[in-house]
This record gives sequence, C-alpha cells and structure tokens, in this order.
Amino acid sequence: MELPSFCLRLFLLIICLAFLLFFLVGKGREGGWVPNSDRSHNKTTILLWHWPFGPRYNLEGDRSLYPSADLVVFHHRELMTSQERLPLHLHRPRHQKWVWLSLESPDNSRYLEPFNNTFNWTMSYRRDADITIPYGKLLPKDYDTDIIPKNKSILACWVVSHYEPQHRRSLVYKSLQRSIPVEVYGRLRGSVLASSDLLPTISSCYFYLSFENSISKDYITEKLWRNAYQAGAVPVVLGPPPDDYIAVAPPNSFIHIEDFPSTKELGNYLRQLQLDKERYAGYFAWRHSYQVKVYTDWRERLCSICPKYQSLSLHLTRAHRVWSKVVH
Ligand SMILES: *[C@@H]1O[C@H](CO)[C@@H](O)[C@H](O)[C@H]1NC(C)=O
Ligand SMILES: *[C@@H]1O[C@H](CO)[C@@H](O)[C@H](O)[C@H]1NC(C)=O
Ligand SMILES: *[C@@H]1O[C@H](CO)[C@@H](O)[C@H](O)[C@H]1NC(C)=O
Ligand SMILES: *[C@@H]1O[C@H](CO)[C@@H](O)[C@H](O)[C@H]1NC(C)=O
Repeated sequence: MELPSFCLRLFLLIICLAFLLFFLVGKGREGGWVPNSDRSHNKTTILLWHWPFGPRYNLEGDRSLYPSADLVVFHHRELMTSQERLPLHLHRPRHQKWVWLSLESPDNSRYLEPFNNTFNWTMSYRRDADITIPYGKLLPKDYDTDIIPKNKSILACWVVSHYEPQHRRSLVYKSLQRSIPVEVYGRLRGSVLASSDLLPTISSCYFYLSFENSISKDYITEKLWRNAYQAGAVPVVLGPPPDDYIAVAPPNSFIHIEDFPSTKELGNYLRQLQLDKERYAGYFAWRHSYQVKVYTDWRERLCSICPKYQSLSLHLTRAHRVWSKVVH
C-alpha cells in the first residue's frame, strides 16, 4: 500500500510564534526573558520525530529540520515497540531539548530503562510533568443552557471496550451489579455502540461508571471528560484517589468509589440520589458556569509547549529527575 509508507514519512513541524511571550513582556515583565542572540526571530521550532500511533495529520516540515529544532518530541509507544529509534547517531545541538511524550499510564509504558538520562522534559497527562497535557479540562462558559439531559431512564451504565476479569474495575462492577442494575455496552455484552450513539446513550443514564483501566496518579481520561461530563451523566469514578479528581474536576460533580465502605452502600446512595431531584441536580451545578474541553488533536497538544517554553528553558538540565515522574 502506498498510503501508509507515504504517511510514515510525514513529520510535523510546528512553529509557534512566541506571541505569548511578547504579551507577557508587554505586561511589564521586562527582563524576565533574555532573547537568545543567535535567534533573533521569536519562534520556537518543535519537531515531532514520529507520529503518535501512526500518521494522521498533514503538516509541513520533515526531519531535515533536526539541526535547527529547539525541541524534538518523541512519542514513547513507537520507541517502546522499536518501530522508531532515537537519532543518537546525529549531533545533538546544545540548546535542543528532547521531550518524552506519552498519554499512557505507567502500566502501559514498558521499556523505559534504556531512555534514562536521555530526555530533558516530560510531556504527559500528569500534573507534575514539565508540560501537562490533560485529556480534558474546564473552560468558563458565557451562556447558560439546560444543564441536565431530560432523557434519563437508566440508573447506571458502563461502556467497556477492553474487559479483563482481573481488572479492579471489573471486580467493582461485578460487585456493584449485585445491588443495582448496571447497563453494560461494549464487546462484553455484544452491544458495541457506534461512536455517534455513545454520548446520547450515556446521556440517558443517571450515572456513568467512569472506570479507568489503570489506577495511577493523575490518570483521568476521556472516560470522565467526554463520556460522563460531555454526555451529561454523573460519573462514578474509579481511578486515582479522590484528591487527584478534586484537583482537576468541578466540585461536587463526581462520586468516587473510595468514599464508600462497600459497593452495597454505593448502590444505595445512587438509588437515593436518583430519586432526590434537587440533590441530583446539585451534581450538575457546575455546568451553569463551565463547559468541558476534550483534547483529541496531537497538534493542539504540541502547541501547549509554546506558552511554557521560555520559563521551562530557564531551568537547568534535569534529565535525571525526568524519570521519577514517569516511572512511579
Ligand atoms: C520579539 O519579541 C520582542 C519582545 O519579546 C519584541 O520586542 C520583538 O519585536 C519581537 N520580534 C519579532 C520579529 O516579532
Ligand atoms: C536512572 O539513572 C540514575 C543515575 O543516573 C539512577 O539513579 C536511576 O535509578 C535510574 N533510573 C532508572 C529508572 O533506571
Ligand atoms: C434518549 O436516549 C436514547 C437511548 O436510550 C437515545 O437513543 C436518544 O437519542 C436520546 N434522545 C436524546 C434527545 O438525547
Ligand atoms: C538534555 O539532557 C541531556 C541528557 O541528560 C543533556 O546531556 C543535555 O545537556 C540536556 N540539554 C539541555 C539543553 O538541557
């Protein structure tokens, strides 16, 4: 096939004009940034060495920009599978930063040891990454809309594409299902939802089981941001501890399984909440002032480097500290 090989040769170059910096300086932070004399133009060149999970976008630039790139970004998955390699045979310009990129949990990021002391920055969903790229976030909203979908008929539902009986989430599901009915969609039940049916279906549920497949610090995915919040069902979350959710999610917007001594009590709580209209509506109060933004485009994620670039560059090399943020 011609297409894949063609696409594999597409590399991304993003030139972010550092207008943000200009903006900051204009606000009286003069002297906060010392322009690099050998780069009189205010732009940052980010070279994505290979596409995450295969090619998807058509953008300008290629690997020949390596010598002049300010940053080179490497997505871990392809390094892990040896589909791609680091350009260790090329001279690494002194000012150039290498960025380790991944949105996978540590459970799904094997083969890290060979890259110890290699990268300068990490880029991941974690709040302590050098560049944090969450799966979603809140944005203020300037108009008010109906905040609770009117279409609700199902108490609790779960969409699961990758069911493993030994996963913590499967055990919790099995136990919860003994106290309340749970509607399951996905391969497990042979009822795979078309992507266009996903959100309308979830919106017909009072509660959505937003259960992550790995339990790791800050690992909160589109299961919360898109499936639950965008659809308009109250998420019952299983993942990192409550504090990790509290740090990023709207207040009083989710139910964490760790806040219940047993799934039986969780089930009772959900039943009561379903009947108590006012209290249930309280879980949607945030939707009067916020909307959810979900990230799906790698280009947009890469552009979030730019606002952080200058301040990060002021730090000394800290490649030795990089790994502790990835491994644990
Ligand atoms: C670069 O930024 C500085 C201030 O940060 C500004 O004075 C200068 O005009 C900018 N140069 C260009 C080419 O945009
Ligand atoms: C990375 O290397 C440092 C020493 O340079 C060592 O202390 C650390 O244990 C290594 N980390 C891993 C995950 O191999
Ligand atoms: C109501 O829910 C059903 C699924 O139960 C869905 O097919 C339908 O599109 C929903 N209607 C609206 C208006 O969201
Ligand atoms: C980036 O990390 C490497 C490996 O630790 C180091 O040799 C290099 O000096 C660092 N580069 C910058 C620009 O900080």
